[in-house]
Amino acid sequence: MNNDFDEVLEFCKLSIPKAHHKRIGIVGAGGIVAGAHLPAYALAGLPIHGITDIDHERAKELAKEHGIVNVYDDYKQMLADPEIEVVDIAVPAAEQPKILLAALAAGKHVLAQKPLATSVEAAQELEAASEESGLVVGVNQQLRFDEGIAAAYKMVQMGWIGKVSNFSLTVNLDTPWELWDWANTMERLEIMIHSIHYHDVVRWFLGEPERVYAVAGKTPGQAPIGETRTISTYTFASGASALIHSNHVNRGGDNIAEFRIDGESGSIRGTLGLLYDYPVGRLDTLEINSQVLPTEGWVAYPVTNRWIPEAFIGTMGSVLSAISDGTPLRSSIRDNVNTIRLIHALYKSIESGESQAL
Ligand SMILES: NC(=O)c1ccc[n+]([C@@H]2O[C@H](COP(=O)([O-])OP(=O)(O)OC[C@H]3O[C@@H](n4cnc5c(N)ncnc54)[C@H](O)[C@@H]3O)[C@@H](O)[C@H]2O)c1
Repeated sequence: MNNDFDEVLEFCKLSIPKAHHKRIGIVGAGGIVAGAHLPAYALAGLPIHGITDIDHERAKELAKEHGIVNVYDDYKQMLADPEIEVVDIAVPAAEQPKILLAALAAGKHVLAQKPLATSVEAAQELEAASEESGLVVGVNQQLRFDEGIAAAYKMVQMGWIGKVSNFSLTVNLDTPWELWDWANTMERLEIMIHSIHYHDVVRWFLGEPERVYAVAGKTPGQAPIGETRTISTYTFASGASALIHSNHVNRGGDNIAEFRIDGESGSIRGTLGLLYDYPVGRLDTLEINSQVLPTEGWVAYPVTNRWIPEAFIGTMGSVLSAISDGTPLRSSIRDNVNTIRLIHALYKSIESGESQAL
């Protein structure tokens, strides 16, 4: 069995060859840059050329901590630096489009944070500008590089569970929304900034759904103004279905983050370790029961990397490979526009009470 996992382990490897290094400037010095982007780049041995944040002191602090030499007054000053080749954006969603468009106009490649934009129109405008520029633009949907999910994807691709009939994921968490001022005031919250990762992954596994249906709710006493509970279902032309069930006001103190993929000849089940004690978490778990290999019952895949920070090596590494040798992006802006279209179809369903065709 162990040798059977070799190709999966190879697919999940996260590293950035020195030959792919570029001069990177980061816009935003908030929680995710401090907790995930910079630790991931340090693990991968990737130096960072500069950083900027409207909170200049915060940018200076992070720069000092991580040995980043250049701290710019603002993103415009960063973009005017001819040394910068790639811009890594990590600011609240509403701020991102203007920075992304300015980066393209300045001839820089980009890694954008999720959500790419808060409307389909804005996402399409960014995609059109990106196509016109000929530059590489990736979107940081790094769950596609999280080891549990990436390994499951490769197992499905290799046919180990046959044709997929269902993908389901349940998270039930106590999310500290009060940490993010900008999130607390978002009317569209849970799908837009959290479950977008799962919806993006469902598309990665199963392609575009035919129809989706979603319901959402708020829980008395919750901090944010937007929805904190969502249940989304999908149907596909292939006959497959998917379910994403997400609750963020769990007062039971027992975080749950489980996924399962069923196919005609087997099943895969796993947990997203990060969400058991965010942002430290634990390793994912992943098991497969395959009549194709075959396994005898459930067999565990040996996960060694985490969603935070390691998966963030994947998204930046993918952008750098695309620039260096043309390797296709695992999460391109062209693909991501369809994730934005999908999440807006889910919101339309929530608001209309009716299923939506895509
Ligand atoms: N897994 C993930 O990929 C993941 C996880 C968390 C957050 N995020 C995304 O990353 C982004 C940032 O999240 P965060 O948790 O770091 O938030 P945060 O509030 O901790 O940090 C945001 C930072 O952006 C800065 N900023 C705002 N506007 C700016 C501008 N115009 N120019 C420069 N800096 C600006 C703020 O001063 C702040 O330091 C959000 O879009 C969020 O959805 C992604």
